[in-house]
Amino acid sequence: MNNNEIIPQYDVVKQNYTPQEKAILKEIRENLVDRAMNTNENFQTDENNLLREINNFLITKENIPQDYRDTLSKKLVRDITGYGQIDPLIQDDELEEIMIIGTNKPVFVYHRKYGMMKTNINFTDAQEVMDLIDSIARQINRRIDQESPILDGRLIDGSRINATIPPVSADGPSLTIRKFKRDPLTIIDLINSKTISIELAAFFWLCFDGLGVKSANAIISGGTSSGKTTTLNALSAFINPKERIITIEDTLELQIPHEHVIRMETRPPNVENKGELTMNDLVKNSLRQRPDRIIVGEVRAEEAITLFTALNTGHSGFGTLHSNSARETITRLTTEPMSVPKIMIQAIDFIIMQNRIYTPSGVSYRRISEVVEVVGMESETIQLNKIFSWNPETDKIENVGVSSQTLTRIAEISGKSLNDLYGEIENRKLVLQHMINQEIRSVEDVNHVIELYYKNPRKVLNRILLY
Ligand SMILES: Nc1ncnc2c1ncn2[C@@H]1O[C@H](COP(=O)(O)OP(=O)(O)O)[C@@H](O)[C@H]1O
Ligand SMILES: [Mg+2]
Repeated sequence: MNNNEIIPQYDVVKQNYTPQEKAILKEIRENLVDRAMNTNENFQTDENNLLREINNFLITKENIPQDYRDTLSKKLVRDITGYGQIDPLIQDDELEEIMIIGTNKPVFVYHRKYGMMKTNINFTDAQEVMDLIDSIARQINRRIDQESPILDGRLIDGSRINATIPPVSADGPSLTIRKFKRDPLTIIDLINSKTISIELAAFFWLCFDGLGVKSANAIISGGTSSGKTTTLNALSAFINPKERIITIEDTLELQIPHEHVIRMETRPPNVENKGELTMNDLVKNSLRQRPDRIIVGEVRAEEAITLFTALNTGHSGFGTLHSNSARETITRLTTEPMSVPKIMIQAIDFIIMQNRIYTPSGVSYRRISEVVEVVGMESETIQLNKIFSWNPETDKIENVGVSSQTLTRIAEISGKSLNDLYGEIENRKLVLQHMINQEIRSVEDVNHVIELYYKNPRKVLNRILLY
């Protein structure tokens, strides 16, 4: 085995329970939690009630000294309402993913800086993992059992979880948590980490705004976890604050900083198999809400046609799509189950390819690898025009030298010359560079500067030039 392949260790300070305390915890889970929960009509654990019940329960136990009872009750409540052993992992914003792969195997995490790591947490009892999964299911008002052994959902903090139990997962229960980043990556972070170049960012800013006359749309494509949603989220900061935005997702992930946003989330069918609201239902409905821009979290099925109908009737849009190349994006869009008629595909301005590159050390990085324009159709074949391309040797996103059709169209509609537009892109580059220099990077701060620029570009530029 090569040294590079050794998986680094991630240690947490563990909550230690004595065997007696462990037994108590088990008993409480079996007897008390349901009761404490049912008293609350929202099916949410009522923590104060639970604390009281646990305290009363501990009184019935003999060798627990009174002064320790309070501390222990609190610890137990935290265990039951929190995430038990993995709670410290949940609290760490530097972790991207938490993976429980069975019993007697370490819990793995994927660290934003160090890549895949092994933790010192090791579940020895399948029931313990089951309890954890159950308590998560309960938190989100869902259930997992023999009949429906897969649970896919979103925690209250926005993290996505997927749990499986036997018989689906042969080696016992598994749990994967894709953590929600509390402090999301912004366009400035993505420039700093070279996911996007400042030139490309400034170019997109101009195109997505379209100088207020023709705002461009885009599909962000890439593999699983390549950073599609993150890039979409960061780019959405460029949307003109005047736009009315509607976002539609299966699980709420997007954090669009704008004021005028309506967020929609799909709903799975209930136990009687009724009440389902699909992505397509919501996209269709959004068209009646007079949006300027529709953002579809992940385009997968029939909602694609509805989205493209919207794009073809003058709305702007953003969406992510799972695919490995621009050509494949087109193929996936035009075949089952999306089946968008080719003629409608021409409404896309950009396909942005997002790539995750793995290194032997296990650390990965993300790059926008290509920006492609859809320029038309020639005898049944959709014509693509690559305008930016990432060069792995230099690690730079290069302007391929082909002129952008989108830019030309914005020039035509706005009555400006291409040179005017290039000048405007340079100005916006200055604004982005200013934020980089001043370490302005949070969602709020970046949004604030962009809004100021929309309100009064001259004033912002003059101020920047004084620095
Ligand atoms: N450019 C990036 N640099 C660093 N981390 C990133 C970047 N893009 C995404 N991530 C992280 O990778 C994980 C998956 O990203 P996400 O955007 O949800 O991927 P996708 O939508 O392609 O599945 C998240 O934890 C996110 O914070
Ligand atoms: Mg995504």
